[in-house]
Amino acid sequence: MTNQQWQQRKDAVIAKGMGNLAPIYVESAENATVTDIEGNRYIDFASGIAVTNTGHSHPKIKQAVQKQLEQFSHTCAMVTPYSSFVELAEKITQKAPISSETKAVFLTTGAEAVENAVKIARAHTGRPGVIAFRGGFHGRTNLCMGLTGKVTPYKAGFGPFPADIFHAPFPNGYHGISEQQSLQALNDIFSCDIEPERVAAIIFEPIQGEGGFYAAPPAWAKAIRDICDQHGIVLICDEIQTGFARTGKLFATEYLDIEPDLMTMAKGIAGGFPISAVVGKADIMDAPLPGGLGGTYAGSPLACAAGLAVLDVIEKEQLCARAEEVGSFFRNRLYDIQNQCPKIGDIRQVGAMIAIELNDPKSGLPLPELTKSLVQQCTANGVIILSCGVKGNVIRFLPPLTIEFPQIEQGLAILKDCLLADK
Ligand SMILES: Cc1ncc(COP(=O)(O)O)c(C=O)c1O
Repeated sequence: MTNQQWQQRKDAVIAKGMGNLAPIYVESAENATVTDIEGNRYIDFASGIAVTNTGHSHPKIKQAVQKQLEQFSHTCAMVTPYSSFVELAEKITQKAPISSETKAVFLTTGAEAVENAVKIARAHTGRPGVIAFRGGFHGRTNLCMGLTGKVTPYKAGFGPFPADIFHAPFPNGYHGISEQQSLQALNDIFSCDIEPERVAAIIFEPIQGEGGFYAAPPAWAKAIRDICDQHGIVLICDEIQTGFARTGKLFATEYLDIEPDLMTMAKGIAGGFPISAVVGKADIMDAPLPGGLGGTYAGSPLACAAGLAVLDVIEKEQLCARAEEVGSFFRNRLYDIQNQCPKIGDIRQVGAMIAIELNDPKSGLPLPELTKSLVQQCTANGVIILSCGVKGNVIRFLPPLTIEFPQIEQGLAILKDCLLADK
């Protein structure tokens, strides 16, 4: 069977809404190399969307999961829990950038973590409202779609969305949205849409992921923290894409010099084993009644074992420092490419969360078609990259933090050839 044959079989049985980047049917993957069923090898600049931060098939993570599998694979933590469930919570609450007593709850997907963070904030405050930001992405469930600030493809055709959700512009220096404008718009929401006393939570990503890799400015985040304190609003940082050493710190919130009340985590938490978490201040976390939070697979033993191994690998292999080295290497090479290709309008990098924005050098207009074809061309030539951005004109690079530098060099040489081939 070839990749194309599997793609035909997929198209016949999987709904169109669940698209895939390219017809690459994976046979195996190791560190930053993915091999398909035809024996083609690809350099992975995507990490399954910021999940395999520790590299594919890390021996320590494999070993931890295999050991757990020998013991048992499921009992449901809400029925008969196990020590790894508690141990992972202890480690994560201790590492979260919150100085007061901290608690956690485990779930299965990122969207579920966001849903539960909002549930906890509502239970704690007794209020309904939530404020999110344009360009933000929080998941595909109904509440998360409501919070997401990007219509196509995430919201188009799926309404109605839950009430009492409002969006303010996210500050974005590159596109001329100042911190002041964002804060003024938030005040306008309080004047025109919902009084702050009815707002349970404000949620933002420390660096917008799907939205295009725009980082929240520290002074703006501090102003948001102050607004939350002034009105008794719960501040939620969505660290689902940014967490677990991706940005050069264990959590990107650490760049902001603020403490969130709640944080959502998923993706890199367990190197590909499905688990997510809400971590936050104990008095807020304890608001829902027993049984109000959880899920059948929430905090599965295999994922907890993997999560503990991931934290160990991050520490032993110093992956926060490595993320910065990988990111700087990318940035320097991307500047070289930009010198020859003025369509790269901007290069953004925080740790190994790296992006280029493609615009027409004369008109400044976004180039979504070029972005799309670049993703296809790169994949066809052996490099897996992803696009993002509200206007679809951003290429994002999320390599495993363990990637070797010659592979980055090789992958970016392919990207450069594909870019320069575009006339
Ligand atoms: C910031 C952020 N929040 C939430 C989610 C949703 O996570 P999941 O796809 O696991 O539901 C994502 C996924 O990309 C994300 O990047």
